[in-house]
Amino acid sequence: MMSDYNWFEGIPFPAIAFQKEIVEDVRNKFLVKDEDLFILSYPKSGTNWLIVIVCLIQTKGDPKWIQSVPIWDRSPWIESDVGYTEVINKEGPRLMSSHLPIHLFPKTFFSSKAKVIYIIRDPRDVLVSGYFFWRKTNLIKNPDSLGTYFEWFLKGNVLFGSWFEHIRGWLSMREWDNFLVLYYEDMKKDTKGTIKKICEFLGKKLEEDELDLVLKYSSFQAMKENKMSTFSFVTEDVVTNGLKLMRKGITGDWKNHFTVAQAEIFDKVFQEKMAGFPPKMFPWE
Ligand code: A3P
Repeated sequence: MMSDYNWFEGIPFPAIAFQKEIVEDVRNKFLVKDEDLFILSYPKSGTNWLIVIVCLIQTKGDPKWIQSVPIWDRSPWIESDVGYTEVINKEGPRLMSSHLPIHLFPKTFFSSKAKVIYIIRDPRDVLVSGYFFWRKTNLIKNPDSLGTYFEWFLKGNVLFGSWFEHIRGWLSMREWDNFLVLYYEDMKKDTKGTIKKICEFLGKKLEEDELDLVLKYSSFQAMKENKMSTFSFVTEDVVTNGLKLMRKGITGDWKNHFTVAQAEIFDKVFQEKMAGFPPKMFPWE
């Protein structure tokens, strides 16, 4: 278990595989091109699911790419040491991922035509998913209980900072033509509809049978069986035994883990921190 995060401007980053100098270069020096596509999220929101869907849209449902190349090479994390080196040397349109909050994102993006898909998930499920995931890695301090992690989460003392600030920050872009907001809950309820929405945003026309292939190879079960889309071969310096990206893949799992008191506290903090957004903005109860 490691001791602490790697802090940069008040945001906790993993203590390994990330360096402050790179995070700074990503914001100040990284040249975003108009043809670039970014998948953005607060961690544990369904990011890898979205990456797989976008990869499959690009190949019109052919699973060869997603089954032969690791997910972080198909869509590198721009803020990680390895990912940054990979993307700055890549020719042509780039598919990239990021968990950066808006104020740390490459400055050149904001005057480009590059596209972003931002996925949001019920923060209570994000919290539970993160609790079970991070403690199987060496990327964070290991919380002794869900209660401890709950407190860290509400304070924003978790990887990539406060969920509330991440979402508020990025939602300020929601009216931009090059910015698509998706919700994990909608993706669960109507996966095919969401895939079509992504196709439209990307200007891709897929036939019905191609859409069905995207659906098939991005299902929870198919992803679970595809070693290139889970983190099953991450090296031992990062993971401890039993890391599972594909844990449950459901909505509302927080109800199985929160106490009544925690649910009430969370609700109160949510109302305070997300005040000002239309009531129907978030598709969960
Ligand atoms: P759970 O831990 O609640 O199961 P991220 O990719 O941002 O790290 O998010 C991980 C979460 O997305 C995990 O949630 C994981 O199970 C879920 N997920 C990944 N692929 C999925 C899929 N094909 N369908 C539904 N959920 C998926």
